[in-house]
Amino acid sequence: MQAELVSNKRVGAYHHMSFSVGDLASQALPGNFVAIAVGGEASSMILRRAFAIYRSTEKGPQGGLIELIVAPHGQGSRWLTNLPVNSTVDMVAPLGTHFGIPTEPVRALLVGGGYGSAPLFGLAELLKSRGCRVDMVLGASTANKIYAPLEGKRAVSSLTITTDDGSMGVQGQITDVLPEIITDKEIEIIYSCGPMGMLQAITQVSEQFGVMHQCAVEEAMACGIGVCMTCVLPVTGEDGVTRMLRSCIDGPVMDGSKVIWDSKRKIPEGTFGA
Ligand SMILES: Cc1cc2nc3c(=O)[nH]c(=O)nc-3n(C[C@H](O)[C@H](O)[C@H](O)COP(=O)(O)OP(=O)(O)OC[C@H]3O[C@@H](n4cnc5c(N)ncnc54)[C@H](O)[C@@H]3O)c2cc1C
Ligand code: FES
Repeated sequence: MQAELVSNKRVGAYHHMSFSVGDLASQALPGNFVAIAVGGEASSMILRRAFAIYRSTEKGPQGGLIELIVAPHGQGSRWLTNLPVNSTVDMVAPLGTHFGIPTEPVRALLVGGGYGSAPLFGLAELLKSRGCRVDMVLGASTANKIYAPLEGKRAVSSLTITTDDGSMGVQGQITDVLPEIITDKEIEIIYSCGPMGMLQAITQVSEQFGVMHQCAVEEAMACGIGVCMTCVLPVTGEDGVTRMLRSCIDGPVMDGSKVIWDSKRKIPEGTFGA
């Protein structure tokens, strides 16, 4: 669809961008992502760029909105964040799987690395509306890469921040603070989003404490709709068989304990069909 950019604000190291998408907003759930064509009609950047949906609002003064948190990173994301308000982009949305919401209230910990916090604020709202207690950990290399710490504080029961350089919160990595929080808050499920190394490290901690872990993986994607196989990663199913799954349609939300994290982009021996 053609989505109109209705707001584009710089927030720390990121851009908070809102797009008018009409009724499509009602179909988006926390964990879903969008794929946007970048560079304009004559661009050589043929691959769409994927961005997690930060929030979707069904009915506002501007109709249905999808909001994104975009880090100006390479050519495509810089083009996007430089767009003036009222521009239109070619967007495919909503894509991928969403976070699973428990049927009973649980004690949930939401963990986001850098812009990986994007889908977690909407998820916090949804979990709270189902009676869950929600705690949050946000981590980044430095303070201005922590997205909206004040919003985080308002959204959840407790917010812990970690930065590699100690410029905000606890100096260190997200996994340094997890064991204490899991124990103190009696966490039953972890939801996470961020770089793959961080998701792998969280999986190790969650397994150590016997806590479920749903993570939104961020594997490089080209088509975003299950056609090109760029985004495959090895995942072991309930039947014990490992298969190469497409993180754009079988994910991005996956059970962290089922992902073979240390495959180093190789197909593990014994994988189905290999
Ligand atoms: C599920 C998912 C969710 C994500 N969520 C977010 C988010 O919420 N916020 C965020 O900031 N980022 C997010 N990302 C990361 C985001 O998709 C990348 O940062 C973005 O693709 C960077 O694009 P770029 O052009 O700026 O960077 P580049 O590094 O320049 O390019 C990124 C990709 O495009 C390819 N490419 C580069 N140039 C060209 C060209 N000329 N022609 C064709 N292909 C080219 C590269 O090979 C690479 O695969 C997410 C990624 C995934 C998979
Ligand atoms: S990105 Fe093409 S199959 Fe997943």
